[in-house]
Amino acid sequence: MPKLTIVNRAGAESEITAKTGVSLMEAIRDAGFDDLLALCGGCCSCATCHVFVDPAFAANLPPMSADEDELLESTSHRSAASRLSCQVPLTDALEGLRVTIAPED
Ligand code: FES
Repeated sequence: MPKLTIVNRAGAESEITAKTGVSLMEAIRDAGFDDLLALCGGCCSCATCHVFVDPAFAANLPPMSADEDELLESTSHRSAASRLSCQVPLTDALEGLRVTIAPED
């Protein structure tokens, strides 16, 4: 049950407690953040679940697939901290992760 800090597009921070085994996208969506559209439902085809993750946790994240990389390349706000949140499974190793929802394209 990792605790995460979510920063919405307005810059407001909230702490949520998420279940392990779901994706970061599902945890954010289920906590009621409507900034994160996640239009494709998590099948890595829309990029509307784009977030920036705390670089301190980079080693605890799964490697990026070619599909995720390609979709992120199509967004306007990609940074070194960009991930598609539907491609990040939540584990206890992400306890304390800070995630910022990326601006809308
Ligand atoms: S929800 Fe569509 S790519 Fe993540």
